[in-house]
Amino acid sequence: MTTANTELYPEAQLVTDLREWMPHQRWFAAKGQTLTGVRVLLRDPLVEEPGFGADHLLVKVSFESAADQIYQVPLGYRPHLPDDLQQWTVAGPDESRGRSVYVYDGLRDQEILDRYSRNLASGTTSGPVELHNVPGSVIEPGLRGRALSAEQSNSSVVLGEKLLLKMFRRLTLGINPDVELPLALGEVGCRSISPIRAWIEAEVEDVRTTLAMVQDFAANSADGWSMALGSVRDLLIEGDLRADEVGTDFAGESQRIGAAVADVHAHLVAALGTGERTAAELSEGMIGRLEGAAAEVAELSELAPAIRARFEEFAGLGRVPVHRIHGDLHLGQVLRTPERWLLIDFEGEPVKSLEERRKPDHPFRDVAGILRSFDYAAHHSVRESQQGAAVASQREFRAREWAERNCAAFCEGYAAASGTDPRDSGVLLRAYELDKAVYEVVYEARHRPSWLHLPLEAIRRLTAM
Ligand SMILES: Nc1ncnc2c1ncn2[C@@H]1O[C@H](COP(=O)(O)OP(=O)(O)O)[C@@H](O)[C@H]1O
Ligand SMILES: [Mg+2]
Repeated sequence: MTTANTELYPEAQLVTDLREWMPHQRWFAAKGQTLTGVRVLLRDPLVEEPGFGADHLLVKVSFESAADQIYQVPLGYRPHLPDDLQQWTVAGPDESRGRSVYVYDGLRDQEILDRYSRNLASGTTSGPVELHNVPGSVIEPGLRGRALSAEQSNSSVVLGEKLLLKMFRRLTLGINPDVELPLALGEVGCRSISPIRAWIEAEVEDVRTTLAMVQDFAANSADGWSMALGSVRDLLIEGDLRADEVGTDFAGESQRIGAAVADVHAHLVAALGTGERTAAELSEGMIGRLEGAAAEVAELSELAPAIRARFEEFAGLGRVPVHRIHGDLHLGQVLRTPERWLLIDFEGEPVKSLEERRKPDHPFRDVAGILRSFDYAAHHSVRESQQGAAVASQREFRAREWAERNCAAFCEGYAAASGTDPRDSGVLLRAYELDKAVYEVVYEARHRPSWLHLPLEAIRRLTAM
């Protein structure tokens, strides 16, 4: 199909440019893989005006030794690029290649964001794209868009400081749990999440697939990770004070985070029910991941038998209750609003298949995610500083103390709200903590070898308990 945009920017050149540009983007998940092909699955014109164009694109990327991936890529086209858009350039004009315009990341252009905002408010979609409003929710017209600067694995746009449009960058065919779970939670009245107002989906390769969602924007909020880091920083500055004596003690917040996680768990049960799985089956998965990790990371091999023994101990627990969980919980996935803590980002672990992510699991996977995150937060600033051995060991001791204090407070909050203290089920909790630490070992070995000792140290501690 030819449109004004395809004349402006022929598809063959688009594909060549994307192939060059995409691997360098923050959201590109296949870093280091050799690309073998790029194919445009959908090219939906959003703007076609003299001197200004924009397309909404779905792009499939193939690799030499990895499964295909599909990405969502909004692009803008302009003959002249304002200064603030320069850094988002995909390619500049080059008549010899049939490209007469600048091509750039469309989500950085105010006018394009406003166009998305207008379409959401009016319900305008084109091609195979469908907009669903949650009953009772209206998206008011005229909300100005602004790209959220904290660029994560997806791209979020704040609309009028009221709503957040989250566009999934890497698409997983099917309904994204980041829409499914908050929608179900909203229906049963859960207040520890940001309510969903609308979502966008399309048939992609014959599968109904979530492209984006709109939820309430929590203005004046801070994420748990930054708050925790601030608390640790203050603690380490105060030479001799303990975690409970400094101004920014985090334990009260940790307790409230525990209560919020328990609240979400209870509502997930109310909305989507419970089931049972055998601990043997769950432990088998953990052992499989351990074997894979030990084969990859030499430092893990000496600890592997002790970890395995913990997983086998867990396998002996018989049947355990399971339900849908968050699945990728850490301190960066909780937001402190002026009123309460919210859990966000219910996508689950992006490396897992959708089927795996949707499988009910024991809620302690989420609990373990937060506990491990406290360990990371505690050691973050210790790691980053260059100091002598004596000071380092003193800081290390106090960081450990901070982590223990906040883990305990979190468990107390979880226990008070749910009636179940995770610490009373040590075998179960340790298995999930170890499973997470094994995952971290692989991650650090691949991306940040100087951090490898952190999960290894946690494994030593957990297996010695
Ligand atoms: N409802 C919201 N209100 C305010 N800020 C939010 C909201 N949802 C997400 N954010 C901000 O955006 C960041 C990334 O959101 P998240 O859903 O975790 O995206 P990703 O999938 O890219 O990790 C969060 O750390 C938070 O700072
Ligand atoms: Mg996130």
